[in-house]
Amino acid sequence: ARQQQQQRKTLHDLMNSCADYFAHQLYQHPYAQGVQDYILGRGLTEDTVHTFQIGFAPPGWDNLIQHFRSENTNRALLKVGMLTQNDNGRIYDRFRNRLMFPIRDIKGRVIAFGGRVMSADEKPKYLNSPETPIFHKGHELYGLYEARKALKDFDNIIIVEGYMDVVALAQHGVRNAVATLGTATSETHVQRLFKQTSEIVFCFDGDEAGRRAAIRALTNTMSSLKDGLQARFLFLPDGEDPDTLVQKEGHDGFMRRVKQAQSLPDFLYQHLQTQADISRLDGKARLASLAQGWINKVPEGFMKQLLLNQLSNLVGLSIEQIEQQFKPEPPSVP
Ligand code: UTP
Ligand code: MN
Ligand code: MN
Ligand code: MN
Ligand code: MN
Repeated sequence: ARQQQQQRKTLHDLMNSCADYFAHQLYQHPYAQGVQDYILGRGLTEDTVHTFQIGFAPPGWDNLIQHFRSENTNRALLKVGMLTQNDNGRIYDRFRNRLMFPIRDIKGRVIAFGGRVMSADEKPKYLNSPETPIFHKGHELYGLYEARKALKDFDNIIIVEGYMDVVALAQHGVRNAVATLGTATSETHVQRLFKQTSEIVFCFDGDEAGRRAAIRALTNTMSSLKDGLQARFLFLPDGEDPDTLVQKEGHDGFMRRVKQAQSLPDFLYQHLQTQADISRLDGKARLASLAQGWINKVPEGFMKQLLLNQLSNLVGLSIEQIEQQFKPEPPSVP
């Protein structure tokens, strides 16, 4: 166990060194001017670049290999996903010619990177570190370390989709935003955030993918809804994401939208009513049966009772009648 701990420390140190290396390339590399122009074009200030330690992975196949020049380090770089290997066993840099976002764990240690291309025709737009011994996507949140560092306490935490959303919001003084890492919001993400705050505001892109992401987030929040905890959903205008919106409307405009975000119960029942027409009796039955799976996930408490109450109002059955149906049948005595 001690040896394993030592090894993890070495991997974290190595990732920190990579972040330092990329940050230096942003100023030292012959192509640095082009990268600086891209950064300027995205509206980021030098201060923001510094806060998030944004860097540049230069073009070429062996920049990290040449930088460290050690067989042992190459093996470790493979382990943390900074190098990758082709079928012939040749190793080369995973991140080439990309703007680099270091991903930190809650203690501030670099555990992974996201890298963005700087021209529209290259793919994929973002390349992320793979799962490694020190990086688990379903668990980590980009920007959480930076948010905790900037703020002693927060009213809420805003979950957004992308690196650029977190960074742009922070630059406009919204320092309590975090992003999932190219994956859906998991139950683990929600549980981790509710250890930091009593309210989560989900704010996904104003597109079809963003609306699907909101429903996934809703699904994975239900089991965490202990009394006192709250979640809200902020839906952005079509084609906007938090980055583009805060650049247009500024801190105050964005915060006005956050204040008006829809509560979880309202979103839940609105979502269910897209699948059940409660102006009809059979639609009411459908709503009640759809709601069952959602409400059953909520821990016992007032929140669960109030969701039942709301269902009772919507379908015109008493809470007793609803609970009667929701309860699993008692086992029959032979
Ligand atoms: P978006 O496509 O909304 O990107 O994906 P974005 O954050 O708005 O990026 P910009 O503004 O074009 O720079 C949201 C998030 O999904 C993940 C990334 O984490 C990204 O920030 N993603 C997206 C990937 O992992 N790979 C991709 O190819 C695209
Ligand atoms: Mn972890
Ligand atoms: Mn999108
Ligand atoms: Mn986006
Ligand atoms: Mn964007």
